[in-house]
Amino acid sequence: MKNTVALILAAGEGTRFKSETPKVLHCVLGKTIIDRVLEKVRDNFSKIIIVVGHKSELVKKSIENKKVVFVEQKKRLGSGDAVKQAENILRDFNGDVLVLSGDVPLLKKDTIKNLISFHKREKAVGTILTSEFENPFGYGRIIRDGDSVKSIIEEKDASAEERIITEINTGIYVFSSQELFKAIKKIKSNNAKKEYYLTDVISILNSENKKVCAYKIGTFDSAMHRSVSTLSEVERVGSSEEVMGINNRYELSIAEGILRKKVIKNLMLSGVTIVDPSTVYIEESVVIEKDTVIMPSTIIKGKTKIKSNCIIGPFSFIEESLIGRDVEIKASYVEGSEIADGAKIGPFAHLRKESKIASKVKIGNFTEIKKSYISENTKVSHLSYIGDSYLGKNVNIGAGTITCNYDGKLKHKTEIGDNAFIGSNTNFVAPVKIGKGALIAAGSTITEDVPDRALAIARARQVNKKR
Ligand code: UD1
Ligand code: CA
Repeated sequence: MKNTVALILAAGEGTRFKSETPKVLHCVLGKTIIDRVLEKVRDNFSKIIIVVGHKSELVKKSIENKKVVFVEQKKRLGSGDAVKQAENILRDFNGDVLVLSGDVPLLKKDTIKNLISFHKREKAVGTILTSEFENPFGYGRIIRDGDSVKSIIEEKDASAEERIITEINTGIYVFSSQELFKAIKKIKSNNAKKEYYLTDVISILNSENKKVCAYKIGTFDSAMHRSVSTLSEVERVGSSEEVMGINNRYELSIAEGILRKKVIKNLMLSGVTIVDPSTVYIEESVVIEKDTVIMPSTIIKGKTKIKSNCIIGPFSFIEESLIGRDVEIKASYVEGSEIADGAKIGPFAHLRKESKIASKVKIGNFTEIKKSYISENTKVSHLSYIGDSYLGKNVNIGAGTITCNYDGKLKHKTEIGDNAFIGSNTNFVAPVKIGKGALIAAGSTITEDVPDRALAIARARQVNKKR
């Protein structure tokens, strides 16, 4: 999209969110609304301008894109005034401007591309992306004169007759840059909200006999859609849900639902079984290989990768983790960890960051692992805390074993050699090193290293006295 600049309006407070956080920083399926808008224009536009205002520092900080130029709108005087802030930057620019609201996270790249080529083909001065909404409440309505658009009228300013119109302004437009800024100067704020509406540009251009078009998506009646005959073509061409503006937390949940269902559907079609899609939350950054089964009430986030043939859930949470083949994770919480082939986790295990679980390991009930390496075939089956530790192969950790890794100031390491057998209820006061094949008697509190194959008993001998 050469010679087209993207201009994103994100200065609004999002009053209807009733939030301390700016609207565009709320998340839809794990990504902020503004990030989702930005990723649609990131690759195709040479310049991206974002108008910020309300808590602008927070919004700017959240965006790490070197291409983006920010302009500040000091007072929220309306979307027309917001666009005006970019005038200085674009003074000598003779191409087109794509204007987007910062609150349309579901918008598709293809739709933007189609809108811009339609605008160029029609040689229009302005083109509005419109859609047909069953319930158009809250949106600006498109007042047409045949194929051209006369004006856009906002909900609050619309007459009863105008409110019946179901073709809405998506808040996404392409304008010839020079014409846009000329028209912006003529906008007045004599409307219900006492704001400078960007939408007034349409009637201004019209009154000057300049060509303003509408490019309608989600229906079959615009020129673009006449040839559409299959469902997949409709998806490609665009749907009305992709242009929904997010103005409150209810709409946020609807957008998230749409995206969540799409991600889950794609996974199912690629060979993943999802037993109850309605209770499963998976972000689109997650990769899952085929024949893995996702059980109900499971959440999988971030750059998690799960190989084939696993059973995940019910009731599991996995974030930023790598999971091998044939792994089971039942009712457990896994963050920033790696789990190799054939390991069995849970129920009720917590793997904290930087835990590495080798193949065929068992991490069982009520066990917490933190920043530790657990080698092949080792079992930590019940009620244990293993922190800052290295466990060798084929180690058996008895129930209730605790690594005492923290002395109040520093964290210390526990190392346990291959084939060691740790009796139940052992405490390892770290730093401590247990040799290969060592045997630790149940109930020991180990404060000194234990050599290979030694038996360590570190508890008071039992005395039975006469009563
Ligand atoms: C706007 C359109 C409406 C359209 C709808 C689509 C106007 C007047 N109305 O209404 O026709 O149907 O979007 O979703 O444009 N903003 C600023 N500075 C301001 C005011 C707004 O940057 O002073 C930004 C907001 O952050 C937002 C965008 O402009 O990203 C639109 O503002 P919003 O208040 O959401 O407008 P709507 O009432 O949704
Ligand atoms: Ca809006």
